[in-house]
Amino acid sequence: MIKRKIIVGNWKMNPRTVKEAGKLFGEVAKGVSRVKKTDIVICAPFIFLEELAEIRTSKVKLGAQDAFPGDTGAFTGEVSADMLYELGVRYVILGHSERRAFGESNNDVNKKIKSALAYGLWPILCVGESDRDHNHGYFSLVKMQLEKCLAGISKNSVGKIIIAYEPVWAISTTPDRRDATADDSREMTIFIRKILSDKFGKNAGSMRILYGGSVNEKDASEFLENGGVDGLLAGKSSLNAKKFLEIINTAEHIF
Ligand code: 13P
Repeated sequence: MIKRKIIVGNWKMNPRTVKEAGKLFGEVAKGVSRVKKTDIVICAPFIFLEELAEIRTSKVKLGAQDAFPGDTGAFTGEVSADMLYELGVRYVILGHSERRAFGESNNDVNKKIKSALAYGLWPILCVGESDRDHNHGYFSLVKMQLEKCLAGISKNSVGKIIIAYEPVWAISTTPDRRDATADDSREMTIFIRKILSDKFGKNAGSMRILYGGSVNEKDASEFLENGGVDGLLAGKSSLNAKKFLEIINTAEHIF
């Protein structure tokens, strides 16, 4: 099955001002007018989403970095998938390692995925190990993350779920980080596809898998060609319009 490629930018808690956010988003939107084969998503902090939704472009979709698992109500400090959808947001990153570090569990992520799907958002589920041990325990960890986060999800909705493999040890802000290789990515994505197909049968074939962890404009083609993935999830590089556009253009012209 031919799947559309997808390049996602995770701005994390950046930039500082709404003005900078608008400028960055506008530069990306302007630079992708000829892109046809690649889906582009920018996941911005909640407070910028309304402003970014005003910069109309059908090519760059808006994403959030979390969503509360449930309906609007008495949940101080939270933002629901329903509210995000109403604003024009269509994707949401869930289970990012930086949120898991605050104590978010696989069970929490599972509820958030169900709620996001119910309100029409496409969940981007992040999985990945903090370290690689010699006993290959990281395979069991990723398996457990997938099984728990995707528990009780119906086969019919899996086409809307995107999996992002993000080894924490390769993320740009991890102390003593190391580069992951396309081989590391391919080995894990083969494993992930096997788990998904055991769980969801042929429906799993429509699920897209991304690699994330210090992706940049220089190694994007290597990951896309040899990493076994359908796209990339970029953090730091997505904060620079020129670099992010280079990654998008690489994806557009690769196959
Ligand atoms: P970096 O690209 O900055 O390593 O971030 C990866 C990431 O965590 C994206 O979600």
